[in-house]
Amino acid sequence: MAATPDPAPLMPSDNESLTQIESQARSELDAVDDDDALERWRVSYLGRRGRLTLVLRGLTSLPLEERKSVGAQANRLKRELEAELQEKKARLGQSATEALIAERIDVTLPGPPLRAGRLHPTTQTLRDMLDCFVSMGFQVVEGPEIEWDHYNFEALRIPKDHPARDMWDTLWIDAQEESDRPMLLRTHTSPMQIRIMEQAQPPIRVVVPGKCYRYEATDPTHEWMMTQVEGLAVDEGISMADLKGTLADFAHRIFGPDRKVRFRCDYFPFVEPGMELRIDCFLCGGEGCRTCSRSGWIEILGAGMVHPEILESVGYDSERYTGFAFGMGVERIAMLRHGIDDIRLFYSNDLRFLDQF
Ligand code: DAH
Repeated sequence: MAATPDPAPLMPSDNESLTQIESQARSELDAVDDDDALERWRVSYLGRRGRLTLVLRGLTSLPLEERKSVGAQANRLKRELEAELQEKKARLGQSATEALIAERIDVTLPGPPLRAGRLHPTTQTLRDMLDCFVSMGFQVVEGPEIEWDHYNFEALRIPKDHPARDMWDTLWIDAQEESDRPMLLRTHTSPMQIRIMEQAQPPIRVVVPGKCYRYEATDPTHEWMMTQVEGLAVDEGISMADLKGTLADFAHRIFGPDRKVRFRCDYFPFVEPGMELRIDCFLCGGEGCRTCSRSGWIEILGAGMVHPEILESVGYDSERYTGFAFGMGVERIAMLRHGIDDIRLFYSNDLRFLDQF
């Protein structure tokens, strides 16, 4: 490195210069931001040939009076600059350590906790339900959520203007209700019964999970979207006994072997006879509460023997084949299993609710 030329020796009497040295030294020190620059600064002011050192050396040649005053000033400045040098040195050292600490990665520290995702309570219950039916030999099939009026209603023996349509408040697609091929958001999974029978020959054993939509004011037991599971079995010699055995077994596996089950007549246009399945209310033990409408029994599904007219309409010989069908709401089953009292909680995306499952 080229040697820095010696600064011109200062005229010791030059008081101006001492002030100048002071202000330059301070502003340069201010700008110093690493150890090398600090060392250069030290050499240029306080080193053997530093500017201040030269002033001090030149004192001897001054007249006594001047020597006293300049000497006092120069010595004060020397002490101050030396102190400031130490201070700066300490500060540079400290920020270097801080930078090192900030940069260092301690690989032995435990990682930040990862929040594990989980299955939605509807999905959990749906999977348990499907596992149960699959183990009995049912196949899982899915179908469209946007459906023709034909499959959702007509083919299920629910013609336009039939009072049974009131059972399902419908979300129509773009005022399609008035067109000649109306389209809708399916109100239940039952239309898949027809679609499956149109495409396959018996023996048939399927379960159909899927979302359904209703034009509905929401309340603790009604949502405009929900999940259903439909079931259909068609074969030679299928009877009510098969229907009851299958569904009683299902209820016991989902709600526990001690549940009492009960079948009652009910009406659905696509089955004959139609029925509902109830289990004894495990919330009140049969005494009667809000969930069981004070009856001691909770309805969990609708079912029945596939209407012979429907079997004929898809080209099956209703003298040879019989079948049963059933349908139920998955959220409703999940509510009963977990004691959830408001169906709207399922899709309000509140983690305080979802985290509990
Ligand atoms: N689809 C009916 C509903 O949403 C439930 C149902 C009742 C399905 C009886 C069936 C059945 O397959 O046989 O209310």
